[in-house]
Amino acid sequence: MARIITGRNIIKTFGTGDKQVRVLNGVNMEIEKGEFVAVMGPSGSGKSTLLFALSGMDSITSGSVMFGDTELSKLRENDRADIRRKRMGFIFQQPTMLKNLNLLDNIILPTAQDGKKNMAKLTQKAKLLMKKTGIGGLENREITEVSGGQLQRAGICRALMNSPEILFADEPTGALNSKSAEAIMGLLTDINREGTAILLVTHDAKISACADRVLFTKDGDIVSELTLQKSSRKNMETRTKKILAEMAVVGI
Ligand SMILES: Nc1ncnc2c1ncn2[C@@H]1O[C@H](COP(=O)(O)OP(=O)(O)OP(=O)(O)O)[C@@H](O)[C@H]1O
Ligand SMILES: [Mg+2]
Repeated sequence: MARIITGRNIIKTFGTGDKQVRVLNGVNMEIEKGEFVAVMGPSGSGKSTLLFALSGMDSITSGSVMFGDTELSKLRENDRADIRRKRMGFIFQQPTMLKNLNLLDNIILPTAQDGKKNMAKLTQKAKLLMKKTGIGGLENREITEVSGGQLQRAGICRALMNSPEILFADEPTGALNSKSAEAIMGLLTDINREGTAILLVTHDAKISACADRVLFTKDGDIVSELTLQKSSRKNMETRTKKILAEMAVVGI
């Protein structure tokens, strides 16, 4: 399989002098095209920092990050931003949306800013995604008039507008109840099945059980990993138990 992300010896430090802290400690990892990878670890272990490093949202102190054949870590921020906008998607715990725009316009806005895009086509795509993610009919709602789960679905639609090759998701279900979280994970699993790679950060073993591979971080390092067979998808409970057992071994 071809690689989409290759991280080599990634070191990330924050601050300077006495106040300098090393948050990523020489991380090596890769994501194959179409793969679904989860990252788990204690709070402060560097999960979000790793996601920011691999997506080029933040610079790294040393090491390298490749996106396909392109070395992200050598590009200028402008060029990295261009790759993020065209080829990557992002979902966070709570989507930041503009209060003066309805749901549909919030979904379209980032892609529409790309200049020469055809608005009718974008609207059509956004409506289709909204239908697919179960929020069809809510196009004209204000963002304050929908539930947390519906807002997160809109966040997913927005992230999919550019048909990304990889979706970076940092605790996308963190603010949701378990029923909404399950629905969101069902959606992400479908999106992955259609070919989009996913890097998902989560604290929840039940959530990471949806991935093909789980990486465990501790103190800025990947200390263990677990590969889950596609064939065991029918039994999510067994997958979750495997992850919980590995967490106990690793001590997280
Ligand atoms: N901009 C920053 N400046 C200084 N320190 C930072 C910065 N961002 C993160 N850190 C520190 O880096 C460490 C790792 O943070 P990170 O957000 O990656 O952790 P995390 O594993 O995502 O935690 P959580 O599960 O709580 O989200 C923490 O100790 C944090 O305080
Ligand atoms: Mg985090």
